Amino acid sequence: MPYDDSLSFLHYAPTRVVFGVGALAEAPLELERLGCARAVIVTDRMLSEKTDLVRRLQEALGGRCVGVYADAQPDSGIHLVDAGAAFARERGADSLVSLGGGSAIDTAKGIAIVLTEGGSLMDHHGFQNLTRRQTPHVAVPTTHGTGSEVTRYAVIKDHEERSKLVFGDFHLIPDVAILDPALTVGQPPAIAAGTALDALTHAIEGLHSLQRNPIADALGLHAARLIRRWLPRALEAPGDLAARGQLLVAAAMAGTAFDNAQVGLVHAIAHTVGARHGVHHGLANAIALPHVIRFNAAEAAEPYGELARALGFTAAGDGAEAAEALAAGVQELTRACGLPVRYRDAGVPEADLEAIAAAAIADAAIVYNPRMAMDPATVLEVLRAAW
Ligand SMILES: [Fe+2]
Repeated sequence: MPYDDSLSFLHYAPTRVVFGVGALAEAPLELERLGCARAVIVTDRMLSEKTDLVRRLQEALGGRCVGVYADAQPDSGIHLVDAGAAFARERGADSLVSLGGGSAIDTAKGIAIVLTEGGSLMDHHGFQNLTRRQTPHVAVPTTHGTGSEVTRYAVIKDHEERSKLVFGDFHLIPDVAILDPALTVGQPPAIAAGTALDALTHAIEGLHSLQRNPIADALGLHAARLIRRWLPRALEAPGDLAARGQLLVAAAMAGTAFDNAQVGLVHAIAHTVGARHGVHHGLANAIALPHVIRFNAAEAAEPYGELARALGFTAAGDGAEAAEALAAGVQELTRACGLPVRYRDAGVPEADLEAIAAAAIADAAIVYNPRMAMDPATVLEVLRAAW
């Protein structure tokens, strides 16, 4: 739908973004600017044991680093967040520097809450429950996808319930995002592609969201353009820092876009498929995306037309043709990355589709989808197409 005189929105993007090859070295200055002298690094075992990135960050921070919590995991659970907070408290931390993908950054957001508010993270579950500034947080992404370095969201897994808990609060938006392209070159190709396709999904879902706004639209459209242009190059030449840099910028832009505009049915499905079957978040999105675009075609004709033209998938105007060109184009991009384009090839059993549909309608993202999808039968139809 085009905008009309009923448009009203709030757009908030307070994160200070520091970009450049070697920007990691800015971390101590950023902490100083925040008035912080005792930072705990929050990261994961893979980065701390298999790369030198944690050591480089420790060296850069010097005396401002009082410890490393390396137990963040893909989909960290509540107990890991609580343990991280206990570790940081014991070290007398006044700030956090997260280093890693979305899971490390989200783990730090959870730790920030527990350090400031006390108790267990579970005591603070929900949206906009926090009433004051949380522990200062400098986020340093090593993947170009999540956008968590600029968003208010933390996704933490409830391992017992096999579901993902979403925390959302303006007070969780990191103070600083350090975007250093050199930190992203070590990602395996499937992760590099998956994370970039997560960012592409943020851009597209922001554009079709019921809560879209013109500022977020601009960020989302340009982010999508950058991913389309630079993802193939980054896969072909993983060390190309120009390509990596543009993907990092795109991920942060798409992050700000969806942080304000929200996401929709693609993420509702992807969160559920990820929680139940461990499918990588970006891949789970990429598989659902073309099918949700087709499902939404009539309700999001204008943004899909803009996207299809911006991405060079069609010269046609808005309408069903443009939506189809966009759907086919994003699926082809996924295939060209060497990733599966069907859930059956990503480890999702057909027998679970009904349960996935039933669980997906409880995901908060679904209410922003431009076409009503709040009953399991509707979601099941999209899931079957994607299976
Ligand atoms: Fe996402």
